[in-house]
Amino acid sequence: MPITIVPITPSFGAEVGDIDLRSPLSDEDLQAVRDAFATYAVLVFPAQDLSVEQHLAFASHFGPLERTVATQMTERKMRVRPEIADIANMDAEGNVWREDSRMRLFQLGNRLWHTDSSFKAPSGYASLLYARSVAPVGGHTEFADTRAAFDALPEAARARLEGLIGEHSLLFSRKRLGFTQFSDDEKRAFAPVSRPLLRTIPESGRRSLYLASHIGRIRGMSDDEAESLLRELTEHATQRRFVHTHRWRVGDLVMWDNRCTMHRGTPFDDLRWPRDMHRATTSDRADAFGAIEDGVPAAADY
Ligand code: OGA
Ligand code: MN
Repeated sequence: MPITIVPITPSFGAEVGDIDLRSPLSDEDLQAVRDAFATYAVLVFPAQDLSVEQHLAFASHFGPLERTVATQMTERKMRVRPEIADIANMDAEGNVWREDSRMRLFQLGNRLWHTDSSFKAPSGYASLLYARSVAPVGGHTEFADTRAAFDALPEAARARLEGLIGEHSLLFSRKRLGFTQFSDDEKRAFAPVSRPLLRTIPESGRRSLYLASHIGRIRGMSDDEAESLLRELTEHATQRRFVHTHRWRVGDLVMWDNRCTMHRGTPFDDLRWPRDMHRATTSDRADAFGAIEDGVPAAADY
C-alpha cells in the first residue's frame, strides 16, 4: 500500500500515514516523502516505534547527520550518541533535571523562535524530532512558515531585506535569556556565522525569511536598528495565520525544513514531567552561501 499524505493546512504541515519507519523505504515511498516535504515543510509521522539506529537511518536520507552542539559544550555528559540532540529535560542518568541545571538554562533557548543550526556551517536542513515520552500538559511545538511570511511581505519590505546578512550564534540566542556563562572553548566553538536574511529553496523556487533568535547582528546596521528589524520580522512571521502547533503523542516523529520554518517549544512543568525527545538534524548540502567566519568576538560582546 502506498503511503498516505493528509494535509494539516493547505500548504504547511501534513501527516504521513501507512508508513513504518523501522524498515527501509521503497524508492517510491521515499520520493513521496521528499515531495511532501518540499511542499509542506513540516511532516508528522504518527505512531512510530523507533530505535535510535532506525531514527538515524531514516534521517540520513535527507543529508549528512550533524553532531549535536552538546558535544561542543564544556562538561556535558551525554545521555545519547553524538548524532542525537538530547531535547529531554533529563540529566545523564535519566532523572528529571534540577532547577539550577546548566542544561536546563541552556535549553530554555528552545522556547524562543528559532531554526536549528543556522549558526553552523553548513547550516541545518531537516530536523527529525521523535517523542519517547511527553508531558501531559503543555510542551507543544509551534512551527512558523517563513515562506508564507515572505509571500505576505509588501514589495517595499522585500526590497529592504534583499542583500541583508544576519550573524548567527548560539551565544546570541542564549544572551537573550540572560545566559552568558560560556567557557572560552564554547565561545570559540560558537563564533558567529553569517547568512542572508532571504533564501531561495531550490526544490520549490520559493523564497523564505531566514530568521532565528540566533541572529544577534545584521551586517552594516547598528545593534539597535538590527534588533528592532529582527523583532518586527519575527512578529510578522509568527502571526497565527503562519503558525501550526504540534501537540505531541508518544511515537510521533515530526520532521521540518530548517531553511524555511521557525519553531519553538511551549512551556510545561519541566521539573515535574519527564519529556524525552530525541532530535536528528541533517546538514544542508546545497548551502551555497557558506559561512563567513568572523573570528572569535571579544568576550565583552556577550
Ligand atoms: C528542537 C526544539 C522544541 C521542543 O528540538 O530543536 O527546538 O518543543 N524543540 O522541544
Ligand atoms: Mn530547535
